[in-house]
Amino acid sequence: MDTILITGGAGFIGSHVVREFVNKYPEKKILNLDALTYAGNLENLKDLEATENYEFIKADITDAQAIFDIFEKHQPIGVIHLAAESHVDRSITNPLEFVMTNVIGTVNLLNAAKHIWNGNFEGKRFHHVSTDEVYGALGDTGFFTEETSYDPHSPYSASKASSDHFVRAYHDTYGMPIVLTNCSNNYGPNHFPEKLIPLCIHNILNNKPLPIYGNGKYTRDWLYVIDHAKAIDLVFHEGTNGGSYNVGGFNEWQNIDLVKELCAQMDEKLNRTAGTSAALITYVKDRPGHDLRYAIDATKINKELGWTPSVTFEEGLSKTIDWFLENKQWLENVTSGDYQRYYSQQYK
Ligand code: NAD
Ligand code: TYD
Repeated sequence: MDTILITGGAGFIGSHVVREFVNKYPEKKILNLDALTYAGNLENLKDLEATENYEFIKADITDAQAIFDIFEKHQPIGVIHLAAESHVDRSITNPLEFVMTNVIGTVNLLNAAKHIWNGNFEGKRFHHVSTDEVYGALGDTGFFTEETSYDPHSPYSASKASSDHFVRAYHDTYGMPIVLTNCSNNYGPNHFPEKLIPLCIHNILNNKPLPIYGNGKYTRDWLYVIDHAKAIDLVFHEGTNGGSYNVGGFNEWQNIDLVKELCAQMDEKLNRTAGTSAALITYVKDRPGHDLRYAIDATKINKELGWTPSVTFEEGLSKTIDWFLENKQWLENVTSGDYQRYYSQQYK
């Protein structure tokens, strides 16, 4: 059985990618490698535990020897790399952790793949999952294309940009077969409540303030996570060797408008009087170096591979809220302990 190694599979996006691959490719073994940091949660994959073609390995990608040993033992023919420190606010507090996992961890994986593939690249592929934040910030107009120069501003985006460069360098220097995807903001089930949408859902449920950074006019493009997982599947299997693909929802929202839409849907689903949740909106101190606007031009993946988002934002948001309402225990579990400490420090 050929093995595909997915890193970060216990996290938000990774868990959806693992599920997509386990269900779609029963003839392949899907090996999920994850350190189970605060963001990794095996509950995200409970439904797959007994599935024959799925295996979980707890390992840290900053541990070069452990990664070598796992590659030697399992001989993966493909790697889909999602493991990362992923939250901009945490990167502002602790940049070095982002260098360790996002840069050193990625190079450890590249070295291990290079070692076991040993120049025999037939049928092999290293897929690096990255972000649109590497391109920096846009003004009121324009879009990021695959040709846009990198211009990262946060420690998070700087670490992701660095990892992207290393992946391309292994292609150019050693001939490693690689593909990259640079995706916009994801949302959906299992989203960790440090990020805007799940944080607001959690706070609305608990009648807590909804913290809006600065004037709330910052703009992001939002994509439903399962559409991202499907894009990764397509690019992993059909993307051009050495190429990169922007993935986005053609779905821009200013933060304040997005939170108001979320509030309206929550009021309706919770049978609360219209305006109840929006009354919780509270403007707070801005994020340092806050990027004004991200917007993805996803024409290439659409034209070359036929990918397109499957749900509108309103539909995706509705499904997301329903998932959180049906999984209140999940939300309680991930917001106990460390989360409380993080929250009171970040929003003090
Ligand atoms: P996440 O924070 O929810 O999950 C990250 C996962 O990586 C967790 O399971 C965690 O345990 C694991 N991990 C962290 N450090 C590790 C280490 N040293 N060794 C092994 N595992 C480790 O992140 P996410 O939102 O699912 O993002 C996944 C990937 O997609 C990241 O590479 C991120 O940069 C990229 N991305 C995210 C978004 C987004 O909107 N969330 C958008 C575009 C790209
Ligand atoms: P986030 O979900 O952290 O994703 P990213 O920073 O990777 O885009 O934030 C999305 C937007 O929401 C961003 O402009 C910052 C803003 N934001 C708030 O206004 N308040 C919050 O509490 C958080 C977490 C984010």
